[in-house]
Amino acid sequence: MGGSLDLSVTLAGVRLRNPLILASGILGTTAGLMLRVWRAGAGAVVTKSITAEPREGNPNPVVVDLGYALINSMGLPNPGVEGIVGELERLRAEGVVVVVSVAASSPEEAELVASRVSGLCDAVEVNLSCPHVGGYGLEVAWDPDLAREVVGRVRRASGRPVLVKLSPHLPDPAGYAEMMVRAGADAVVVSNTLRAMAIDVWSRRPVLGGVYGGLSGPPLKYVTLRMVYEIYERLPGIPIVGVGGVETWADAVEYLLAGARAVGVGTAVARRGIGVFGEILRGMKEYMESEGFGSVEEMVGLAHEA
Ligand code: DHB
Repeated sequence: MGGSLDLSVTLAGVRLRNPLILASGILGTTAGLMLRVWRAGAGAVVTKSITAEPREGNPNPVVVDLGYALINSMGLPNPGVEGIVGELERLRAEGVVVVVSVAASSPEEAELVASRVSGLCDAVEVNLSCPHVGGYGLEVAWDPDLAREVVGRVRRASGRPVLVKLSPHLPDPAGYAEMMVRAGADAVVVSNTLRAMAIDVWSRRPVLGGVYGGLSGPPLKYVTLRMVYEIYERLPGIPIVGVGGVETWADAVEYLLAGARAVGVGTAVARRGIGVFGEILRGMKEYMESEGFGSVEEMVGLAHEA
């Protein structure tokens, strides 16, 4: 069953065997973990955001499990660009489609990381949306000149497609996406976590060591879906990766219908394990067969047709 279905998609020139991508921040620090995700069926994997220098991250606790969602405040822990190079070489040797997420607090840092990894990956994702690490992510995005400069430098430093990961806090996602494409982005990843916090009523203090963190999981889905729909409506030619609260095949299909060409899965992997890739793919294939779709590409943006 499903032998004639074409699950592949092309995203900004990168061919993916299926539209499911391991979202940044989950299991994305070692080749061994990313290889397991690839073997579990993901069409591509995205690394944890990489900075020029290694970072230890925030003090514990770094995650609050709400049951229906997570708040995390990792603080961008990563091995630094030199520390990820060996992992990328191993992944390349195994034929894994890898996207490197770059976090930078300056155009120079972005350029350094992007130029070092671009020969070792299939695409570069610029994290312009981490909601709580000072000097990084959303703080860069709020300064349009700085954001444009960061993306422009990555564009020039990298021979690979450049994806820009947007924040759900942006008041005009389509306008921002258009600005990023003018600055050199080939695609947008929509979106990242929402800035959040939790308070312990007994200690009467913030729970997270870093105080603020990013909310992820199912509560984000309908916000992100709306952003994907808005961006596709205004800019149907810009490839979009939908990320936010995908747990089931139906969530993934909703994103495709809204206009995403690929769909990131993150919190569901953290909560339920890497088996979610196989589960979502199986459900998607059954849906395609019962609805008469021969390829995933046929479904992209269908919710917009009159
Ligand atoms: C972190 C980074 C992110 O981009 C995000 O959305 C949430 C958390 C972090 O490393 O703290």
